[in-house]
Amino acid sequence: MTAAARSRRLLAGPLGLVALAVVVGSVFFVTGTQAHGQSNVVSTNPSDILAGQQLFQEHCQACHGYEGEGGQTSAPPLVSVGAAAADFYLTTGRMPLNNPGNEAARHHPFFDATQISQLVAYVNALPTITGTNQTGPTIPTVAPLCPTATPDPSDPGCVTLSEGLQAFSLNCAACHQAAGSGGILSKGNVVPSLHNSNMTQVGEAIRVGPKPMPVFAPSQMSDQQMSAIAQYVQYLHHPADPGGLGISHFGPVAEGFVAVLFGFGILLFAARMIGTRG
Ligand code: HEC
Ligand code: HEC
Repeated sequence: MTAAARSRRLLAGPLGLVALAVVVGSVFFVTGTQAHGQSNVVSTNPSDILAGQQLFQEHCQACHGYEGEGGQTSAPPLVSVGAAAADFYLTTGRMPLNNPGNEAARHHPFFDATQISQLVAYVNALPTITGTNQTGPTIPTVAPLCPTATPDPSDPGCVTLSEGLQAFSLNCAACHQAAGSGGILSKGNVVPSLHNSNMTQVGEAIRVGPKPMPVFAPSQMSDQQMSAIAQYVQYLHHPADPGGLGISHFGPVAEGFVAVLFGFGILLFAARMIGTRG
């Protein structure tokens, strides 16, 4: 072994530990923001785009084409789908498919968070790379819950669970059921449960409309409504009353309740992350 190789090997251990610490740290950072709101920035850093391109050529190009122009298979073009679609399909493990004939169903994500952000950066950059004007929706930002049960006029940037309940009942419950447990559509399509979806994924599904689910564009559903639904679906994961859903009335939401939700979020997501990483 050369001296350089030996020192590289000596470095690998500590560097690995540092990398692990960074990953664990960022998991806690990300989960810490769950109960509040969720904001997601798509990288435009050239090194991320390049890393995403390499992953794309290895794992996606065979079906979606060299620069996402669509392929010989049934795989759709990705040039203008936008960051939200890429992030949704990758974080829910729907992509990559093993076989173009397979159903794009929810799985454990194939890539880690860094690789996903690199692939998203690349898909997001495709319109620029290919000189196309059209771009798809970007990853939505979910507004935080208001500290009170009714909207606070002095804080227009927050949403309430009752707004979420209302918009969910009107737009989503017909397919996903009142408690988000899913079901079967008339044509035999399976409607998935929403219990594994985080707030960002709910916002993405709303804007992207993973077929056969319809797209809810900002013209039909405001960002406020989208955020309220995302918060409400998150609430459905752990309703405050374990004996049943108190879905007709929300009393004042105490700060303690928000704290409990927040704590649960951290525990659950930490457990889930450890589970999927193991
Ligand atoms: C084996 C072929 C195959 C591979 C490999 C594959 N895909 Fe797909 N992809 C498909 C098919 C088929 C669909 C349409 C599925 C559907 O609508 O249910 C699709 C749909 C998508 C969509 C949704 C497009 C839209 O119009 O909203 C995205 C985003 C996507 N793929 C990204 C990726 C990425 C990123 C990779 C690589 C990590 C990848 N795919 C790998 C076949 C593939
Ligand atoms: C017409 C029926 C229909 C309506 C209305 C509908 N959905 Fe869906 N939804 C589906 C189907 C079917 C899928 C699965 C699509 C797939 O896997 O490609 C889905 C998938 C999802 C997912 C992904 C779940 C997962 O597996 O991670 C989320 C989140 C979601 N829907 C949220 C919503 C929200 C929020 C609304 C209301 C704004 C809504 N849906 C309205 C049929 C519907």
